[in-house]
Amino acid sequence: MAADFRALRRRFPVLERKTYLNSGSYCALADTVREAINAYMDDRLLMGANWDVWVTKNEAVRAAMAKVLHATPDEIAITASASAGLNALARALDFTQRRNKVIVSDFEFPTNAQIWHAQELRGARVVHVPLGPDGYISLDNFARLIDDETQLVAVTHVCFRNGAKLDIPGIVSLAHARGARVLLDCYQAVGALSVDVRRLDVDFAVGGMLKYLLGTAGIGFLYVRGKLISQLTPTNSGWFAQENIAAMDITANRPSSTARRFEAGTPPVVNCYAAEAGLKIILEVGTDAIEARVRELTRRCMESLEDIGWTAATPPQQERRGPMVAIPARDSARLFAKLMEQDIVTSFRDDNVRATIHFYNSEDDIDAFVAAMKKHRTELHQPP
Ligand SMILES: Cc1ncc(COP(=O)(O)O)c(C=O)c1O
Repeated sequence: MAADFRALRRRFPVLERKTYLNSGSYCALADTVREAINAYMDDRLLMGANWDVWVTKNEAVRAAMAKVLHATPDEIAITASASAGLNALARALDFTQRRNKVIVSDFEFPTNAQIWHAQELRGARVVHVPLGPDGYISLDNFARLIDDETQLVAVTHVCFRNGAKLDIPGIVSLAHARGARVLLDCYQAVGALSVDVRRLDVDFAVGGMLKYLLGTAGIGFLYVRGKLISQLTPTNSGWFAQENIAAMDITANRPSSTARRFEAGTPPVVNCYAAEAGLKIILEVGTDAIEARVRELTRRCMESLEDIGWTAATPPQQERRGPMVAIPARDSARLFAKLMEQDIVTSFRDDNVRATIHFYNSEDDIDAFVAAMKKHRTELHQPP
């Protein structure tokens, strides 16, 4: 049955008050996510510590996250952030061999470059793939740098600055042909686009539940391809990363045989309640239906901006876009503030104001945003 987006929209109270185009920073809060957080409070008030329920919640998030990514639960570590997952993975890689290059792109969110640069102390060489003259990073640029000394290609799915989407299948083919592995930072895509780790054939993926997955801050995930797990032993660990959490053995590190070996300590329990509820909505609506709706609204936004003579910095080709439309402004902070005065919630990075779109947005949201942009055009327009 086709998703009823009008009915779904009513489950996000902020949408009655605001034109909310900020899911790429922080999603709108759904009624059931709020109820889940309240349920945590009720459990605490009425039962104190309910350890058994807490562990179940963590496992429910793992199972739901696996479904969203088309992975198995054993391939998913539930972490405190995307950065925590990246760090755990980094600490499992050996950079003392000839194959010590990590390739990142100039589209990366800082954390997916900084963490690899931090491994330089352990022998890693980090190489950045630069933008082309058109502001995009084509496969040719990756092909020039991925070589037999490359251990990992760590790339973003969608760029947090300008909304450009990389050609992940193309990058994966290049990397695998040279014996390198691929890590996908899908935080700016997952939940709004279908991210199928099997179809994309990536080896690792990270993200979190704060944005398009409709959850909250303080919880993320790391996907590790099943057959690689036993080959990778992180040198950061903790009791929740052990094969038997209850063993309480202080004489050795015995990592779990699953991706849980990339976890550390007590799970972020309240965040698990929220994340489970958010993921449930994503799975109920369906990632393909969500992607189709997001594409429809994003296209409308790009075309309407073109009509008012304010070209976006986001690539015009649909296959190079995700759920974000980034618009260059003479003063992006000022434009952001002006929009906020009209109850239009966006965000800004560098010279761009970002409209980030989810299935709960409507045509009216897009039209209100573009009408406001038209009003500010004379003062704040900037060509890309
Ligand atoms: C693409 C991308 N990667 C990573 C992060 C950082 O995630 P975390 O704060 O969970 O480490 C963000 C946060 O905005 C992001 O947009």
